[in-house]
Amino acid sequence: MKIVALVGSTRNNSYNLRLAQYVQNKYQEQLNVEILNLKEIPFYDQDIEVNPPAAVKELAHKVAEADAVLWVTPEYNYSIPGVLKNAIDWLSRGERVLVGKPSWIMGASMGGLGTVRAQQHLRDILFSPGVSSPLLPGNEVYVGLVHEKIDEEGNLNHEATELFLDVVVNNFVKWMKQQEAASAVK
Ligand code: FNR
Repeated sequence: MKIVALVGSTRNNSYNLRLAQYVQNKYQEQLNVEILNLKEIPFYDQDIEVNPPAAVKELAHKVAEADAVLWVTPEYNYSIPGVLKNAIDWLSRGERVLVGKPSWIMGASMGGLGTVRAQQHLRDILFSPGVSSPLLPGNEVYVGLVHEKIDEEGNLNHEATELFLDVVVNNFVKWMKQQEAASAVK
């Protein structure tokens, strides 16, 4: 199953990037996760959306080819970072490659709430008409106090989080099978 991971932080030592890389490595038997870089995505501009810059075209192409999108987001001022919203705004136009594309969400922060408020906003955005991305129900992954749980090498040193991620990944895989079966019936 091909998954593209969109990480809402562009910094090199991002905890959210490390979380995405952990999922990519740990579950490689079940999931083929490609982490997409949002650093080169310019600001959304309606004047150029008919023929967007190459980085935007490539992003849209990779999302279109994937079976699902994994959003891994930090929380910035109680919401998702602008870099992630900007990418979604591009993807919501033109061929609208997110429409009908299954999504699941994870997030990590150094605070105790682990991106609860950012993820709440992201759920609202996924529900908007230009996005309309079906979301894995439940299975809300909030990795709070992440600096105590993931080390510099990206190793997760927190058993409860490891076990929870196992459950979430299994639930995601089951849910994807249900999604495929439902679309075969249509
Ligand atoms: C933050 N941070 C933060 N944390 C949080 O729990 N709630 C918040 O509203 C915010 N707001 C916020 C705004 C801005 C501009 C920055 C730079 C940071 C802290 C944030 O969780 C922390 O920096 C994470 O480490 C960012 O994620 P990455 O870059 O490590 O993936």
